[in-house]
Amino acid sequence: MEPMKLPGPKAQAIIERDHAVISPSYVRGYPFVMDHGQGCDVWDVDGNHFLDLAAGIAVTSTGHSHPQVVRAIQQQAEKFLHISSDYYHSGWVELGEKFNEIAPYAEQAVSFMTNSGTESVEAAIKLARYHTGASQFIGFLGGFHGRTLGSLSFTASKPVYREGFYPLMNGVVHAPFPNPYRPILETKPGEDYGEVVVRYIEEEILGKLLAAEDVAGVLVEPIQGEGGYIVPPPGFFPALRRLCDRHKILLIADEVQSGMGRTGKWWAIQHFGVEPDIICVGKGVASGIPMGAIIARQSVVTWPPGSHGNTYGGNPLACAAALATIQLIQEGYMQNAAEVGEFAMDILAEIQVRHPNIGEVRGAGLMIGVDFIKNHSTKEPYPQFRDRVVDLAFERGLLTLGCGKSTIRVSLPLSITRQEIERGLQIFEQAITVAERETEGVLEYVA
Ligand SMILES: Cc1ncc(COP(=O)(O)O)c(C=O)c1O
Repeated sequence: MEPMKLPGPKAQAIIERDHAVISPSYVRGYPFVMDHGQGCDVWDVDGNHFLDLAAGIAVTSTGHSHPQVVRAIQQQAEKFLHISSDYYHSGWVELGEKFNEIAPYAEQAVSFMTNSGTESVEAAIKLARYHTGASQFIGFLGGFHGRTLGSLSFTASKPVYREGFYPLMNGVVHAPFPNPYRPILETKPGEDYGEVVVRYIEEEILGKLLAAEDVAGVLVEPIQGEGGYIVPPPGFFPALRRLCDRHKILLIADEVQSGMGRTGKWWAIQHFGVEPDIICVGKGVASGIPMGAIIARQSVVTWPPGSHGNTYGGNPLACAAALATIQLIQEGYMQNAAEVGEFAMDILAEIQVRHPNIGEVRGAGLMIGVDFIKNHSTKEPYPQFRDRVVDLAFERGLLTLGCGKSTIRVSLPLSITRQEIERGLQIFEQAITVAERETEGVLEYVA
Protein backbone atom coordinates (compact mmCIF):
# COMPACT_ATOMS: atom_id res chain seq x y z
CA MET A 1 0.00 0.00 0.00
CA GLU A 2 1.25 3.47 -0.98
CA PRO A 3 1.73 5.70 2.07
CA MET A 4 -0.50 8.78 2.35
CA LYS A 5 0.97 12.25 2.63
CA LEU A 6 -0.18 13.36 6.09
CA PRO A 7 -1.37 15.65 7.41
CA GLY A 8 -3.52 16.87 4.52
CA PRO A 9 -4.17 20.61 4.06
CA LYS A 10 -7.35 20.81 6.18
CA ALA A 11 -5.75 18.81 8.97
CA GLN A 12 -2.64 20.98 8.83
CA ALA A 13 -4.71 24.16 9.19
CA ILE A 14 -6.55 22.81 12.26
CA ILE A 15 -3.30 21.67 13.87
CA GLU A 16 -1.85 25.17 13.47
CA ARG A 17 -4.93 26.73 15.13
CA ASP A 18 -4.75 24.09 17.88
CA HIS A 19 -1.16 25.00 18.70
CA ALA A 20 -2.21 28.58 19.40
CA VAL A 21 -5.00 27.86 21.89
CA ILE A 22 -4.76 24.31 23.28
CA SER A 23 -2.41 23.38 26.12
CA PRO A 24 0.90 22.00 24.85
CA SER A 25 0.90 19.41 27.65
CA TYR A 26 -1.13 16.97 25.52
CA VAL A 27 0.94 14.36 23.67
CA ARG A 28 -0.03 13.98 20.02
CA GLY A 29 1.92 11.08 18.56
CA TYR A 30 0.93 11.79 14.96
CA PRO A 31 -1.25 14.35 13.14
CA PHE A 32 -4.66 12.65 12.97
CA VAL A 33 -7.50 15.19 12.85
CA MET A 34 -10.81 13.36 13.26
CA ASP A 35 -13.82 14.17 11.15
CA HIS A 36 -16.12 11.23 11.81
CA GLY A 37 -16.16 7.55 12.68
CA GLN A 38 -18.33 4.45 12.47
CA GLY A 39 -17.45 1.17 14.17
CA CYS A 40 -13.72 0.59 13.75
CA ASP A 41 -13.40 3.03 10.83
CA VAL A 42 -12.49 6.70 11.14
CA TRP A 43 -12.02 9.48 8.60
CA ASP A 44 -9.93 12.61 8.93
CA VAL A 45 -10.96 16.09 7.81
CA ASP A 46 -9.28 15.59 4.40
CA GLY A 47 -11.35 12.47 3.74
CA ASN A 48 -8.53 9.98 4.46
CA HIS A 49 -9.73 6.67 5.87
CA PHE A 50 -8.12 4.80 8.79
CA LEU A 51 -8.79 1.65 10.76
CA ASP A 52 -8.73 2.46 14.48
CA LEU A 53 -6.73 -0.18 16.37
CA ALA A 54 -6.45 2.03 19.45
CA ALA A 55 -10.15 2.78 20.11
CA GLY A 56 -9.39 6.23 21.53
CA ILE A 57 -7.09 4.68 24.18
CA ALA A 58 -9.39 1.72 24.84
CA VAL A 59 -12.50 3.90 25.19
CA THR A 60 -14.77 3.31 22.18
CA SER A 61 -15.56 -0.20 23.37
CA THR A 62 -18.62 -0.54 21.14
CA GLY A 63 -16.90 1.14 18.17
CA HIS A 64 -17.35 4.73 17.09
CA SER A 65 -20.89 6.11 17.38
CA HIS A 66 -22.69 2.78 17.77
CA PRO A 67 -26.30 3.48 16.71
CA GLN A 68 -27.75 2.02 19.93
CA VAL A 69 -25.50 4.19 22.09
CA VAL A 70 -26.24 7.27 19.99
CA ARG A 71 -29.99 6.61 20.21
CA ALA A 72 -29.84 6.19 24.00
CA ILE A 73 -28.00 9.52 24.31
CA GLN A 74 -30.45 11.28 21.97
CA GLN A 75 -33.49 9.95 23.82
CA GLN A 76 -32.06 11.01 27.18
CA ALA A 77 -31.00 14.44 25.82
CA GLU A 78 -34.60 15.16 24.88
CA LYS A 79 -35.75 14.42 28.44
CA PHE A 80 -33.12 16.24 30.55
CA LEU A 81 -29.37 16.82 30.41
CA HIS A 82 -28.64 17.37 34.07
CA ILE A 83 -30.22 17.51 37.49
CA SER A 84 -27.12 17.17 39.80
CA SER A 85 -26.22 14.58 42.37
CA ASP A 86 -28.44 16.29 44.98
CA TYR A 87 -31.43 14.47 43.46
CA TYR A 88 -32.38 11.01 42.23
CA HIS A 89 -33.10 9.67 38.73
CA SER A 90 -33.90 6.23 37.40
CA GLY A 91 -31.01 5.90 34.91
CA TRP A 92 -28.48 6.38 37.68
CA VAL A 93 -30.15 3.72 39.87
CA GLU A 94 -30.44 1.36 36.89
CA LEU A 95 -26.71 1.75 36.23
CA GLY A 96 -25.93 1.04 39.90
CA GLU A 97 -28.05 -2.12 39.62
CA LYS A 98 -26.17 -3.14 36.45
CA PHE A 99 -22.82 -2.58 38.14
CA ASN A 100 -24.04 -4.74 41.02
CA GLU A 101 -25.00 -7.46 38.52
CA ILE A 102 -21.59 -7.47 36.79
CA ALA A 103 -19.40 -6.81 39.87
CA PRO A 104 -17.11 -9.72 40.81
CA TYR A 105 -18.30 -9.81 44.42
CA ALA A 106 -20.17 -12.40 46.44
CA GLU A 107 -21.72 -9.54 48.44
CA GLN A 108 -23.79 -6.60 47.17
CA ALA A 109 -21.89 -3.92 45.19
CA VAL A 110 -22.37 -0.20 45.78
CA SER A 111 -21.19 2.39 43.23
CA PHE A 112 -20.03 5.98 43.27
CA MET A 113 -20.18 7.60 39.82
CA THR A 114 -17.39 9.83 38.52
CA ASN A 115 -16.47 11.63 35.29
CA SER A 116 -13.09 10.08 34.46
CA GLY A 117 -10.57 7.41 35.39
CA THR A 118 -8.51 9.66 37.60
CA GLU A 119 -11.58 10.75 39.53
CA SER A 120 -12.43 7.09 40.12
CA VAL A 121 -8.95 6.52 41.54
CA GLU A 122 -9.28 9.59 43.79
CA ALA A 123 -12.59 8.25 45.09
CA ALA A 124 -11.02 4.83 45.76
CA ILE A 125 -8.13 6.44 47.68
CA LYS A 126 -10.53 8.44 49.84
CA LEU A 127 -12.89 5.52 50.48
CA ALA A 128 -9.96 3.26 51.45
CA ARG A 129 -8.66 5.87 53.90
CA TYR A 130 -12.11 6.52 55.32
CA HIS A 131 -13.05 2.89 55.74
CA THR A 132 -9.78 1.63 57.21
CA GLY A 133 -8.74 4.71 59.17
CA ALA A 134 -5.23 4.10 57.76
CA SER A 135 -3.38 6.51 55.50
CA GLN A 136 -0.63 4.62 53.62
CA PHE A 137 -0.78 2.81 50.27
CA ILE A 138 1.20 0.44 48.12
CA GLY A 139 1.36 0.97 44.34
CA PHE A 140 3.47 -0.51 41.56
CA LEU A 141 6.31 0.69 39.36
CA GLY A 142 5.12 1.07 35.78
CA GLY A 143 1.58 1.74 36.99
CA PHE A 144 -0.63 4.46 35.52
CA HIS A 145 -3.62 5.70 37.48
CA GLY A 146 -4.16 9.26 36.28
CA ARG A 147 -2.77 12.74 36.60
CA THR A 148 -4.57 14.48 39.48
CA LEU A 149 -2.40 14.77 42.56
CA GLY A 150 -3.71 11.71 44.42
CA SER A 151 -3.71 9.34 41.45
CA LEU A 152 -0.42 10.86 40.21
CA SER A 153 1.18 9.76 43.47
CA PHE A 154 0.63 6.19 42.27
CA THR A 155 1.43 6.77 38.60
CA ALA A 156 4.97 5.56 38.02
CA SER A 157 5.27 4.77 34.32
CA LYS A 158 7.29 7.82 33.17
CA PRO A 159 9.05 10.64 35.07
CA VAL A 160 7.46 13.27 32.78
CA TYR A 161 4.11 12.75 34.53
CA ARG A 162 5.59 13.88 37.87
CA GLU A 163 8.39 16.24 36.93
CA GLY A 164 7.57 19.78 38.07
CA PHE A 165 4.55 18.71 40.14
CA TYR A 166 6.02 17.83 43.54
CA PRO A 167 5.04 17.50 46.35
CA LEU A 168 2.50 14.80 45.56
CA MET A 169 0.17 13.06 48.00
CA ASN A 170 2.10 11.64 50.91
CA GLY A 171 2.12 7.94 51.69
CA VAL A 172 2.57 5.81 48.56
CA VAL A 173 5.31 3.18 48.35
CA HIS A 174 5.93 1.43 45.03
CA ALA A 175 6.74 -2.25 44.58
CA PRO A 176 7.98 -3.78 41.31
CA PHE A 177 5.10 -4.95 39.09
CA PRO A 178 5.50 -8.66 38.34
CA ASN A 179 6.63 -8.50 34.70
CA PRO A 180 7.47 -12.09 33.79
CA TYR A 181 9.22 -11.02 30.55
CA ARG A 182 11.64 -8.65 32.29
CA PRO A 183 11.75 -9.71 35.97
CA ILE A 184 13.87 -7.52 38.24
CA LEU A 185 13.74 -9.66 41.38
CA GLU A 186 15.58 -12.93 41.66
CA THR A 187 13.39 -16.00 41.21
CA LYS A 188 14.35 -19.53 42.29
CA PRO A 189 13.65 -22.33 39.77
CA GLY A 190 9.98 -23.32 39.84
CA GLU A 191 8.89 -20.20 41.75
CA ASP A 192 5.98 -18.09 40.48
CA TYR A 193 7.37 -14.60 39.90
CA GLY A 194 4.11 -13.06 41.13
CA GLU A 195 4.58 -14.77 44.50
CA VAL A 196 8.16 -13.49 44.60
CA VAL A 197 6.87 -9.90 44.26
CA VAL A 198 4.29 -10.42 47.01
CA ARG A 199 7.02 -11.82 49.26
CA TYR A 200 9.05 -8.67 48.51
CA ILE A 201 6.09 -6.55 49.65
CA GLU A 202 5.74 -8.59 52.83
CA GLU A 203 9.43 -8.75 53.73
CA GLU A 204 10.86 -5.52 52.37
CA ILE A 205 7.98 -3.02 52.38
CA LEU A 206 5.91 -4.23 55.34
CA GLY A 207 9.02 -5.63 57.04
CA LYS A 208 11.17 -2.51 56.83
CA LEU A 209 9.14 0.53 55.79
CA LEU A 210 5.43 0.50 56.62
CA ALA A 211 3.54 -0.93 59.57
CA ALA A 212 0.81 -3.07 58.02
CA GLU A 213 -1.85 -1.45 60.23
CA ASP A 214 -1.01 1.94 58.66
CA VAL A 215 -1.73 0.64 55.15
CA ALA A 216 -5.20 1.42 53.79
CA GLY A 217 -4.91 -0.23 50.39
CA VAL A 218 -2.93 -1.76 47.56
CA LEU A 219 -3.78 -0.12 44.24
CA VAL A 220 -2.97 -2.25 41.21
CA GLU A 221 -3.86 -2.67 37.55
CA PRO A 222 -4.79 -6.33 36.95
CA ILE A 223 -3.07 -5.99 33.56
CA GLN A 224 -0.71 -3.03 33.48
CA GLY A 225 -1.84 -0.68 30.67
CA GLU A 226 0.19 2.45 30.02
CA GLY A 227 3.17 0.63 31.56
CA GLY A 228 3.31 -1.82 28.64
CA TYR A 229 0.28 -4.14 28.58
CA ILE A 230 1.91 -6.49 31.06
CA VAL A 231 0.09 -9.59 32.27
CA PRO A 232 1.24 -10.72 35.74
CA PRO A 233 1.97 -14.41 36.42
CA PRO A 234 -0.92 -16.54 37.75
CA GLY A 235 0.33 -16.65 41.35
CA PHE A 236 0.43 -12.88 41.82
CA PHE A 237 -3.17 -11.96 42.60
CA PRO A 238 -3.99 -14.96 44.83
CA ALA A 239 -0.84 -14.21 46.88
CA LEU A 240 -1.65 -10.48 46.98
CA ARG A 241 -5.22 -11.22 48.12
CA ARG A 242 -3.86 -13.44 50.92
CA LEU A 243 -1.46 -10.68 51.99
CA CYS A 244 -4.28 -8.11 52.04
CA ASP A 245 -6.52 -10.46 54.04
CA ARG A 246 -3.75 -11.17 56.55
CA HIS A 247 -3.24 -7.48 57.24
CA LYS A 248 -6.80 -6.12 56.67
CA ILE A 249 -5.60 -4.06 53.70
CA LEU A 250 -8.06 -3.24 50.89
CA LEU A 251 -7.27 -4.60 47.43
CA ILE A 252 -8.17 -1.92 44.86
CA ALA A 253 -8.21 -3.05 41.23
CA ASP A 254 -7.76 -0.21 38.75
CA GLU A 255 -9.78 -1.60 35.85
CA VAL A 256 -10.07 1.75 34.07
CA GLN A 257 -8.31 0.31 31.02
CA SER A 258 -8.64 -3.46 31.51
CA GLY A 259 -12.29 -3.58 32.57
CA MET A 260 -15.70 -3.49 30.90
CA GLY A 261 -15.24 -6.73 28.96
CA ARG A 262 -12.02 -5.74 27.20
CA THR A 263 -10.16 -8.91 28.21
CA GLY A 264 -13.07 -11.27 27.50
CA LYS A 265 -14.35 -11.05 31.09
CA TRP A 266 -16.02 -8.06 32.72
CA TRP A 267 -12.94 -7.47 34.86
CA ALA A 268 -9.37 -8.54 34.12
CA ILE A 269 -8.86 -9.57 37.75
CA GLN A 270 -11.43 -12.36 37.15
CA HIS A 271 -8.77 -14.14 35.05
CA PHE A 272 -6.88 -14.67 38.30
CA GLY A 273 -9.77 -15.98 40.42
CA VAL A 274 -9.59 -13.15 42.93
CA GLU A 275 -12.21 -10.75 44.33
CA PRO A 276 -10.93 -7.22 44.97
CA ASP A 277 -12.60 -4.84 47.46
CA ILE A 278 -12.92 -1.81 45.18
CA ILE A 279 -12.86 -1.56 41.38
CA CYS A 280 -12.00 1.68 39.54
CA VAL A 281 -13.89 2.08 36.27
CA GLY A 282 -13.51 4.55 33.38
CA LYS A 283 -12.67 4.62 29.68
CA GLY A 284 -14.83 1.99 27.88
CA VAL A 285 -17.77 2.18 30.30
CA ALA A 286 -19.82 4.67 28.25
CA SER A 287 -18.34 4.24 24.74
CA GLY A 288 -16.69 7.68 24.85
CA ILE A 289 -19.01 9.83 26.95
CA PRO A 290 -16.93 10.98 29.95
CA MET A 291 -17.84 8.59 32.77
CA GLY A 292 -16.24 6.59 35.52
CA ALA A 293 -17.15 4.86 38.76
CA ILE A 294 -15.90 2.97 41.72
CA ILE A 295 -17.73 -0.25 42.40
CA ALA A 296 -17.09 -1.46 45.94
CA ARG A 297 -18.23 -4.19 48.27
CA GLN A 298 -21.13 -2.84 50.28
CA SER A 299 -19.36 -3.54 53.58
CA VAL A 300 -16.53 -1.19 52.54
CA VAL A 301 -18.77 1.76 51.64
CA THR A 302 -19.07 3.13 55.16
CA TRP A 303 -18.68 6.85 54.44
CA PRO A 304 -21.61 9.09 55.47
CA PRO A 305 -23.56 11.69 53.44
CA GLY A 306 -21.38 14.70 52.61
CA SER A 307 -18.07 12.83 52.88
CA HIS A 308 -17.66 12.56 49.11
CA GLY A 309 -19.62 13.79 46.10
CA ASN A 310 -19.51 15.65 42.79
CA THR A 311 -21.78 17.84 40.69
CA TYR A 312 -21.94 15.57 37.64
CA GLY A 313 -21.96 12.17 39.37
CA GLY A 314 -24.60 10.00 37.70
CA ASN A 315 -25.02 12.44 34.82
CA PRO A 316 -28.09 11.26 32.89
CA LEU A 317 -26.42 11.29 29.45
CA ALA A 318 -23.44 9.35 30.77
CA CYS A 319 -25.74 6.83 32.51
CA ALA A 320 -27.77 6.34 29.32
CA ALA A 321 -24.59 5.80 27.28
CA ALA A 322 -23.20 3.40 29.90
CA LEU A 323 -26.43 1.36 30.05
CA ALA A 324 -26.51 1.01 26.25
CA THR A 325 -22.80 0.11 26.25
CA ILE A 326 -23.21 -2.54 28.95
CA GLN A 327 -26.16 -4.06 27.10
CA LEU A 328 -24.09 -4.37 23.90
CA ILE A 329 -21.13 -5.84 25.77
CA GLN A 330 -23.44 -8.28 27.58
CA GLU A 331 -25.27 -9.32 24.43
CA GLY A 332 -22.15 -10.27 22.48
CA TYR A 333 -19.17 -7.93 22.49
CA MET A 334 -17.52 -9.49 25.55
CA GLN A 335 -17.76 -12.92 23.95
CA ASN A 336 -16.45 -11.38 20.74
CA ALA A 337 -13.49 -9.86 22.65
CA ALA A 338 -12.56 -13.31 23.96
CA GLU A 339 -12.89 -15.01 20.55
CA VAL A 340 -11.41 -12.44 18.18
CA GLY A 341 -8.79 -11.64 20.83
CA GLU A 342 -7.45 -15.19 20.46
CA PHE A 343 -7.65 -14.85 16.69
CA ALA A 344 -5.62 -11.61 16.83
CA MET A 345 -3.05 -13.20 19.18
CA ASP A 346 -2.64 -16.12 16.75
CA ILE A 347 -2.01 -13.79 13.80
CA LEU A 348 0.41 -11.70 15.87
CA ALA A 349 2.27 -14.86 16.94
CA GLU A 350 2.73 -15.69 13.23
CA ILE A 351 3.90 -12.13 12.53
CA GLN A 352 6.37 -12.47 15.41
CA VAL A 353 7.96 -15.51 13.78
CA ARG A 354 8.64 -13.48 10.63
CA HIS A 355 9.91 -10.38 12.48
CA PRO A 356 12.65 -10.90 15.06
CA ASN A 357 12.27 -7.32 16.31
CA ILE A 358 9.15 -8.50 18.13
CA GLY A 359 10.25 -9.80 21.51
CA GLU A 360 6.87 -10.71 22.94
CA VAL A 361 3.17 -10.70 22.11
CA ARG A 362 1.08 -10.80 25.29
CA GLY A 363 -2.35 -9.93 26.60
CA ALA A 364 -5.88 -11.16 27.15
CA GLY A 365 -8.91 -10.69 24.91
CA LEU A 366 -8.53 -7.40 23.06
CA MET A 367 -5.89 -5.97 25.37
CA ILE A 368 -2.78 -7.05 23.49
CA GLY A 369 0.76 -5.68 23.65
CA VAL A 370 3.46 -6.16 21.00
CA ASP A 371 6.89 -5.53 22.54
CA PHE A 372 9.74 -4.52 20.22
CA ILE A 373 13.33 -5.35 21.16
CA LYS A 374 16.82 -4.57 19.92
CA ASN A 375 18.57 -7.60 21.29
CA HIS A 376 17.16 -11.06 21.82
CA SER A 377 19.31 -12.12 24.71
CA THR A 378 19.04 -8.91 26.75
CA LYS A 379 15.48 -8.09 25.57
CA GLU A 380 16.65 -4.48 25.32
CA PRO A 381 13.63 -2.33 24.43
CA TYR A 382 13.71 -0.64 21.03
CA PRO A 383 11.57 2.52 21.37
CA GLN A 384 12.81 4.14 18.13
CA PHE A 385 11.67 1.11 16.15
CA ARG A 386 8.30 1.06 17.91
CA ASP A 387 7.79 4.78 17.24
CA ARG A 388 8.67 4.30 13.57
CA VAL A 389 6.17 1.43 13.22
CA VAL A 390 3.45 3.66 14.71
CA ASP A 391 4.22 6.43 12.17
CA LEU A 392 4.48 4.05 9.19
CA ALA A 393 1.19 2.40 10.18
CA PHE A 394 -0.50 5.81 10.37
CA GLU A 395 0.68 6.73 6.87
CA ARG A 396 -0.85 3.44 5.68
CA GLY A 397 -4.23 4.06 7.30
CA LEU A 398 -3.91 2.48 10.74
CA LEU A 399 -4.23 4.19 14.12
CA THR A 400 -2.07 2.54 16.80
CA LEU A 401 -0.70 3.73 20.14
CA GLY A 402 2.45 2.99 22.05
CA CYS A 403 2.74 2.07 25.73
CA GLY A 404 5.60 1.10 28.02
CA LYS A 405 9.12 1.62 26.70
CA SER A 406 8.73 -0.11 23.38
CA THR A 407 5.32 -1.72 23.10
CA ILE A 408 2.42 -1.07 20.76
CA ARG A 409 -0.98 -1.57 22.32
CA VAL A 410 -3.61 -3.30 20.27
CA SER A 411 -6.70 -2.15 22.15
CA LEU A 412 -9.36 -2.75 19.57
CA PRO A 413 -13.04 -1.87 19.83
CA LEU A 414 -14.81 -4.93 21.28
CA SER A 415 -17.07 -4.89 18.23
CA ILE A 416 -14.25 -5.59 15.75
CA THR A 417 -14.65 -8.43 13.26
CA ARG A 418 -12.11 -11.05 12.15
CA GLN A 419 -11.95 -9.42 8.71
CA GLU A 420 -11.16 -6.03 10.22
CA ILE A 421 -8.47 -7.58 12.41
CA GLU A 422 -6.92 -9.33 9.38
CA ARG A 423 -6.95 -6.08 7.41
CA GLY A 424 -5.47 -4.08 10.30
CA LEU A 425 -2.74 -6.58 11.12
CA GLN A 426 -1.78 -6.82 7.45
CA ILE A 427 -1.06 -3.08 7.47
CA PHE A 428 0.69 -3.48 10.83
CA GLU A 429 3.03 -6.11 9.35
CA GLN A 430 3.74 -3.90 6.30
CA ALA A 431 4.76 -1.10 8.67
CA ILE A 432 7.08 -3.46 10.57
CA THR A 433 8.64 -4.65 7.30
CA VAL A 434 9.36 -1.07 6.16
CA ALA A 435 10.80 -0.18 9.58
CA GLU A 436 13.04 -3.26 9.37
CA ARG A 437 14.36 -2.21 5.96
CA GLU A 438 15.13 1.25 7.31
CA THR A 439 17.01 -0.10 10.33
CA GLU A 440 18.65 -3.14 8.72
CA GLY A 441 21.50 -4.59 10.75
CA VAL A 442 20.55 -2.93 14.04
CA LEU A 443 19.04 -5.99 15.71
CA GLU A 444 21.54 -8.04 17.64
CA TYR A 445 20.17 -11.54 17.32
CA VAL A 446 21.64 -13.77 19.99
CA ALA A 447 19.64 -16.98 20.05
C1 LIG B 1 -5.42 2.12 34.45
C2 LIG B 1 -5.76 3.56 34.34
N1 LIG B 1 -6.21 4.23 35.42
C3 LIG B 1 -6.55 5.52 35.36
C4 LIG B 1 -6.44 6.24 34.20
C5 LIG B 1 -6.83 7.70 34.17
O1 LIG B 1 -7.98 7.87 33.44
P1 LIG B 1 -8.40 9.34 32.88
O2 LIG B 1 -7.40 9.67 31.83
O3 LIG B 1 -9.79 9.14 32.40
O4 LIG B 1 -8.31 10.26 34.04
C6 LIG B 1 -5.98 5.59 33.04
C7 LIG B 1 -5.86 6.35 31.77
O5 LIG B 1 -5.16 5.96 30.87
C8 LIG B 1 -5.64 4.23 33.11
O6 LIG B 1 -5.19 3.57 32.04
